[in-house]
Amino acid sequence: MNRYRTHTCNELRPADIGGNVSLVGWVDTLRDHGGVVFVDLRDREGITQVVFHPENNAELASRAEGLRSEDVIRITGSVVGRLKTEEIDAANPDLATGEIEVEADSLEILNKADVLPFQLDRNISNEDIRLKYRFLDLRRPSMARNLRIRHRIAKTTRDFLDEKGFLEIETPILSKSTPEGARDFLVPSRLAPGKFYALPQAPQQYKQLLMVGGVERYFQIARCFRDEDLRADRQPEFTQVDIEASFITPEDIYSWIEHLLQRIYKESIGRDIPIPFPRMTWKEAMDQYGSDKPERRFGMKLTDLSSIFAESAFKVFANAVARGGVVKAINAKGFANASVGQIDSLTKTAVEAGAKGLAYIKVREDGWKSPITKFLGETEIRLLTEALQIETGDLILFAAGPWEQSCEILGRVRLECAGYQELLQGSTELDFLWVTRFPLFGWDEEERRFTAIHHPFTRPVPEDEEKLLKGEISTELCAEAYDVVLNGTELGGGSIRIHERELQAAMFRALGISDEQAQAQFGHILGAFSFGAPPHGGLALGLDRLAMLVCGAESIREVIAFPKNNRGADLMSDSPAGVDSAQLRDIHIQVRLPEKLKTKNPAS
Ligand code: AMO
Ligand code: AMP
Repeated sequence: MNRYRTHTCNELRPADIGGNVSLVGWVDTLRDHGGVVFVDLRDREGITQVVFHPENNAELASRAEGLRSEDVIRITGSVVGRLKTEEIDAANPDLATGEIEVEADSLEILNKADVLPFQLDRNISNEDIRLKYRFLDLRRPSMARNLRIRHRIAKTTRDFLDEKGFLEIETPILSKSTPEGARDFLVPSRLAPGKFYALPQAPQQYKQLLMVGGVERYFQIARCFRDEDLRADRQPEFTQVDIEASFITPEDIYSWIEHLLQRIYKESIGRDIPIPFPRMTWKEAMDQYGSDKPERRFGMKLTDLSSIFAESAFKVFANAVARGGVVKAINAKGFANASVGQIDSLTKTAVEAGAKGLAYIKVREDGWKSPITKFLGETEIRLLTEALQIETGDLILFAAGPWEQSCEILGRVRLECAGYQELLQGSTELDFLWVTRFPLFGWDEEERRFTAIHHPFTRPVPEDEEKLLKGEISTELCAEAYDVVLNGTELGGGSIRIHERELQAAMFRALGISDEQAQAQFGHILGAFSFGAPPHGGLALGLDRLAMLVCGAESIREVIAFPKNNRGADLMSDSPAGVDSAQLRDIHIQVRLPEKLKTKNPAS
């Protein structure tokens, strides 16, 4: 038997009445009712009420009076039913142990606690304080629940993938730069002066090399590192459920991931999710929702109005169409009462996404209020009304310009409107979706070259392979790539890979990587492809994002035990931090800060 306790604080029930027990935990709350001391004793599992009666043991009760919140104690005592008379029912229906209490006959103080920097039962708006004292924050029931759910997700994932024949294999953390599109974190080498390891942005190359190694089905709950700007759903280090398999098609991936997510939801929070998930091509997603991770829990779809405005007297619209672009609009139903501030903010959003402006129409009882109605003819107004099913009270917002840019602009404006209108308030819907047929290439106007939309190991769809081999490169080529999206968040992404040396070399050429550069950076991959690489593909799920959505949390920081804050700092251990000069000498590093950075540390 355990030396400290006979039961957890969530275990005792009326059937235990009369038993002698010992419990350990933290003093959650302390109440003194005329000398009778009630302690809510909390451990990881729950809360049990402990009572100290002065008439049983005055000395003990007075020691209990001296306890403070978060002291760590051990008590022994006997289980009794809570007082129940005609007038009083002391049972607490909110507690699993609420029908009993423990009458203490001994109290051992295992450790005293100082006054806490914040109260655990309060909502703390200052996240930095929570992160600085994360070890206390983790005692809060909501955080304890999140860690438990995250554990359940990881455990379910391991069980599921094991059943499907996947092997869990670790790949190096000290590795070589992988082009996933973010900046690398670099680690200087002591033994190879002037050389650096890169922390993996993902285990992409290693997992493909495992396929060449004949592993056939691999997975890893892998830590990844990306030096990028942080947001609520991004951390510099995060965790992927990373998967790769040989001799498969996208259908195999879809089916595994759907069944995996179904089981995760069932086993972590008991929710049933229907499978298979609907699918949508990237083009459809952009065209209808203005996003490659469409939020479909509300309508407000993008409508194409190009044919209506091709000949318009409003030159901004007519010119956009004449230049091969589009005029698109959304109808924010019932939002004609948008404030000036809201319209300004929507316009700012549009401009940040590349728009020259954001034309709008407020459809009010007393007519259409808009900076553009003076340009619109009667026919245009009629066709517009039909196309957007305009009614009094609506707000219409327009974007005119190149197709992809206009879609993206309205995609962002649409989400912002939904926020103002609280369209998703209280929604418990789970909208899973596959987005398929991403473009293979994007165009970087600044560097004037093609970039890989997913990564350079993703293969084109079969009908576009010839074009890649022949060097007929355009942003029209489609990738055999797919993302799984939940409620407008990208949960995961993957692709079928290139496994032929020739096709991989053609891919590097298309990206403007010379043969020498390709050899220096990816020689091992190209080499491996000449020794019988099997056809293969895979996907990685963001475990933090998945846990966030399962827990219903607002940020991935809520599901990571020790996250960095939004400036990339760990406030608890105070990292990143300086190191002493001897350490730097060992790794042949000299720090030279530009003048303007010398006074302040950007991370804190
Ligand atoms: P990708 O870059 O799309 O693909 O990443 C896969 C998933 O990882 C999660 N994710 C993040 N989560 C938290 N913080 C971040 N900074 C962050 N960046 C990405 C997202 C994303 O969908 N090697 C490929 C996968 C493959 O092709 O198999 C890859 O890493 O949920
Ligand atoms: P202007 O005549 O340039 O003042 O434009 C009239 C309205 O159209 C203003 O509300 C602008 O914000 C808006 N606007 C200008 N260019 C675009 C565009 N490309 N797409 C959508 N609206 C625009």
